[in-house]
Amino acid sequence: MAKGTSITDASTHMSESHYQTDSRRILVTSALPNANGSIHLGHLLEHIQTDIWVRFQRMCGNECIYVCADDTHGAATMLRAEELGTTPEELIDDVRLEHEQDFKDFLISHDNYYSTHSEENREYSSLIYERLKSAGKILTREVEQLYDPEREIFLADRFIVGGCPRCKSEGQYGDNCEVCGATYDATDLINPVSKLSGAVPVLRSSAHFFFALSEFKDFLKSWTRSGTLHDQVANKLAEWLDEGLQDWDISRDAPYFGFEIPGETAKFFYVWLDAPIGYMASFKRYCETTGINFDEWWQPDSSCEIHHFIGKDIINFHALFWPAMLEAAGFRTPTRIHAHGFITVDGQKMSKSRGTFINARTYLDHLGPEYLRYYFATKLSDSIDDLDINLEDFVQRVNSDLVGKVVNIASRCAGFVKKQGGHLAASCDNPMIVGFRAQAAEIAQAYEEGNVGKAIRQIMAMADQANQFIADKAPWQMAKEEGRDAEVLSVCTDGINAFRMLVTYLKPILPTLAEKSEAFLNVSPLLWSDLDELLVDHDINKFKPLMSRIEQKDVDAMVEAGKSSIDNETSTEAADQAMDNTAENNTIEFDDFAKLDLRIAKIEKAEHVEGADKLLKLTLDIGTGQRQVFAGIKAAYQPDDIVGRLTVMVTNLAPRKMRFGVSEGMVLAAGPGGQDLFLLSPDSGAEPGMEVK
Ligand code: MSP
Ligand code: ZN
Repeated sequence: MAKGTSITDASTHMSESHYQTDSRRILVTSALPNANGSIHLGHLLEHIQTDIWVRFQRMCGNECIYVCADDTHGAATMLRAEELGTTPEELIDDVRLEHEQDFKDFLISHDNYYSTHSEENREYSSLIYERLKSAGKILTREVEQLYDPEREIFLADRFIVGGCPRCKSEGQYGDNCEVCGATYDATDLINPVSKLSGAVPVLRSSAHFFFALSEFKDFLKSWTRSGTLHDQVANKLAEWLDEGLQDWDISRDAPYFGFEIPGETAKFFYVWLDAPIGYMASFKRYCETTGINFDEWWQPDSSCEIHHFIGKDIINFHALFWPAMLEAAGFRTPTRIHAHGFITVDGQKMSKSRGTFINARTYLDHLGPEYLRYYFATKLSDSIDDLDINLEDFVQRVNSDLVGKVVNIASRCAGFVKKQGGHLAASCDNPMIVGFRAQAAEIAQAYEEGNVGKAIRQIMAMADQANQFIADKAPWQMAKEEGRDAEVLSVCTDGINAFRMLVTYLKPILPTLAEKSEAFLNVSPLLWSDLDELLVDHDINKFKPLMSRIEQKDVDAMVEAGKSSIDNETSTEAADQAMDNTAENNTIEFDDFAKLDLRIAKIEKAEHVEGADKLLKLTLDIGTGQRQVFAGIKAAYQPDDIVGRLTVMVTNLAPRKMRFGVSEGMVLAAGPGGQDLFLLSPDSGAEPGMEVK
């Protein structure tokens, strides 16, 4: 490449560019996929998002190491292996091979893909546990839980079914009702049975180990506000932190597939304890094979960065439990948690029956990986709002942007250059190119912040501009006229330079397109700093098609195949409960209002709740019976002051399981909150149970 020629005003922009800063040392992770199912669109969104960020960092000259692993432990793996007539070890080995191949075929550039069932992970899990223990942060408590007397195993909520205590629907899981949405404790189910054996579960108590998370409230309040999280996420966590943090149960009784707790018998680490430590373990393994110094990255004052990419459903594990554990065990905490929303298809959660629950392999059997990489990239932002995809839009978007716009620039210019010996003109001083270069800092910032969709809009606007320029100049017309060869070559040299810049900008998203383009342009692998250079007085190679259009029939075939081959499920609902989105539209219809059942309620009892800073537990008489509500009014009222008074309550709010019990509605109060909160009361004459309209 003729690297001698640089863009005229580049020096005025250099100082703002990311690649001009000192090289950063960055460790990056994606959440560890569960080892009991296949990789699907949801996982791919996350790995593609992470991979784009990682490839961008590497293009900027930063040291960027990307590790991941399969999350292997837990009762689910053990039971799934039993079902398949194999051992958990064999199951996780098979799944790991499948996952690795899927990611590789989607061009995900993990430096190491490991397993949480590894010696490194056992070592670090034990080490962290021992350190927490000697710091006095591990507590022992008796826990009562449902137990299957036939299979001799404690039952997690999803292994118990029974009648919903609220709407009485049969066959509901131990944590919530799929019919009416109620949440409850498994012990509240009517006629519960074990899904494993059909036996009636019995209550049994055993000793569990807890991590003293509640002692880290102040630490977490400041950590979550220290630039580690997007504001949207930090605000949500602030609500949880204010509700009060409970100590975290980190042990499970045998039988369990996992690591035994050192010094105990028949006690295992809960899968979520060793899962994030799996990030360290995968990196440790990478260090062993490369000679990188692990401690330099994980010691408390490390100047290296650690970035975790995760979905919104697992924010509490990464932004509360994990940093608290690291802090308590004397390790550094993450630099940033990048959380994303869930994929929906046509506004609905992925569905097997509609064929929209698509596995990685099903997709790859029909379509190339870069189409999906690009389409997901157009949707990426730094928020945790869900990302809606639509398969028609997918086809249209990819064909129009990549084939119709970007590749088109090269294919329109290449032939004319070839006709003149395949050698580019000696100069390129088109202001359009200078303008393209001037956007480097803004696009770099969008990549850095995860606003890839924004970067793409900017890049496609440039592609439109370049196509317009070529259309206006119409080199195919000029080429027909005598003596205009130099002009033709100049226009096409500008076009090729525009193309080269667009490909550089898109390279984190489209590594294969970039590689093919590098071969065509006859240049070494493009770096962000190459945006400072022009490609002039330089031989290019013969143009070969860089990307073909997506055919609708391939998409249809994939959807059909997807309908039959799915064995795996994800729940957007659970994620929504964990972290719901704010509605965009602020007005409601009368019908929406009419859905509220507002009633006069009498406060019969008001009590303090142990461990809760803001809540009072109220027992309310609503005429037809009693309701229990946890209300955030502790700072404004003493329990004794409000017993006996009337207030207004929403009685048909779906019950909500809180840390302290189930809240069955909401009382209405006015004011900003804290001490300035005023319970609504009716005029005299109103009685409990009266409807409020
Ligand atoms: N094993 C845990 C993570 C442990 S990390 C120390 C887990 N595994 S998972 O397989 O259920 O999910 C892995 C990642 O995929 C999570 O970040 C999750 O949010 C993400 N997604 C799973 N389904 C998804 C969608 N439908 N849409 C977007 N992301 C989703 O959680
Ligand atoms: Zn129900």
